[in-house]
Amino acid sequence: MQVTFCRLRTHQWCFILFNVILFHALLFGADFVEEYFLHSLPYIDMKVLEIKNKARKLNMEPLRSNLSKYYVLSQSEVCKGKNIFLLSLVFSSPGNGTRRDLIRKTWGNVTSVQGHPILTLFALGMPVSVTTQKEINKESRKNNDIIEGIFLDSSENQTLKIIAMIQWAVAFCPNALFILKVDEEMFVNLPSLVDYLLNLKEHLEDIYIGRVIHQVTPNRDPQNRDFVPLSEYPEKYYPDYCSGEAFIMSQDVARMMYVVFREVPMMVPADVFVGICAKSVGLIPIHSSRFSGKRHIRYNRCCYKFIFTSSEIADPGTPLAWKEINDGKECTLFETYYGLVSCKLLTYLDSFKRFHMKTIKNNPTYFGD
Ligand SMILES: *[C@@H]1O[C@H](CO)[C@@H](O)[C@H](O)[C@H]1NC(C)=O
Ligand SMILES: *[C@@H]1O[C@H](CO)[C@@H](O)[C@H](O)[C@H]1NC(C)=O
Ligand SMILES: *[C@@H]1O[C@H](CO)[C@@H](O)[C@H](O)[C@H]1NC(C)=O
Ligand SMILES: *[C@@H]1O[C@H](CO)[C@@H](O)[C@H](O)[C@H]1NC(C)=O
Repeated sequence: MQVTFCRLRTHQWCFILFNVILFHALLFGADFVEEYFLHSLPYIDMKVLEIKNKARKLNMEPLRSNLSKYYVLSQSEVCKGKNIFLLSLVFSSPGNGTRRDLIRKTWGNVTSVQGHPILTLFALGMPVSVTTQKEINKESRKNNDIIEGIFLDSSENQTLKIIAMIQWAVAFCPNALFILKVDEEMFVNLPSLVDYLLNLKEHLEDIYIGRVIHQVTPNRDPQNRDFVPLSEYPEKYYPDYCSGEAFIMSQDVARMMYVVFREVPMMVPADVFVGICAKSVGLIPIHSSRFSGKRHIRYNRCCYKFIFTSSEIADPGTPLAWKEINDGKECTLFETYYGLVSCKLLTYLDSFKRFHMKTIKNNPTYFGD
């Protein structure tokens, strides 16, 4: 084996090298292209300057007592006097106390990274049933980590939920440098996320980061539940926006959004709504492929130490995985490399399988011929 290996000619080595490069280009090329070439320049005009100015001058102090009317549970004291680096708001449905407990026991239990304080809270709307409300009250007394807005927590009200929670962050947690919006079915690696934020080369303002979605067309089918009428949003494409499962904004961005909320059409999906707000204040979303979006990333210790999020719907093993990630063992460069290649390949295979299953399901005659 070794002997034949040594006898390879130059052109054979070239061929192997070419294949290795091709393999990596196919696997990581899209991420690379997205991150480095999809940058457009932010624009600034008089209107944007005006909004920036208004946001900077915003004085929430007198508004605070009025705003607490909009929350059943407002946790108005949790942030007081604390310098918070990252506030993570986990968007949770009222009836899902078990999921919240799991998060509290795993990734939500991180209170600081490299000495930077982190606060994790749960964002809820109101439940339909009184019993559920009683349970939430009990859960809130025990953990002091639930914010509940006064609106029904339904899929149609998700834009309202985002507005209520950004308003909460601006009013009650103005000293949080960054705000993470994340859905309850996600796994979040807070240490790697904080490390990334600390290493941002530019100043820590105007930050809106996530998995950027490019050139999505609004749903124009009147029969569809997600129908967006032309009168509400006339343009052909939505602006680039961060996928709603998890994204980060800096406090100044949250304040600017608070200023423009009322001027932006609300009958669009919640993450698109945030994207339109961002565009109207002249912001360009920053893409990172370490956010998974909707995808579940196949578990691998060193891969999970590197990525920011993964959708956990398919994986009930969070506590075990969490324990393994935090066992203190570092990953060498090679292990990280190997982990990324393997979890990326497996994730591709998974999505291929899912696609295939869907085709089979949608074509009942598939087996017929
Ligand atoms: C708070 O609300 C009251 C009545 O709801 C209103 O009179 C007052 O102007 C409000 N305060 C601020 C600062 O908006
Ligand atoms: C959460 O972390 C604290 C220390 O930061 C630890 O004492 C506690 O046991 C942890 N809780 C769980 C459920 O792991
Ligand atoms: C949204 O919340 C409001 C306020 O609670 C409620 O009146 C409305 O029915 C909710 N909408 C939907 C579609 O659930
Ligand atoms: C609770 O969360 C799980 C996944 O995290 C989801 O499958 C389930 O539908 C949720 N339950 C409710 C009542 O929303």
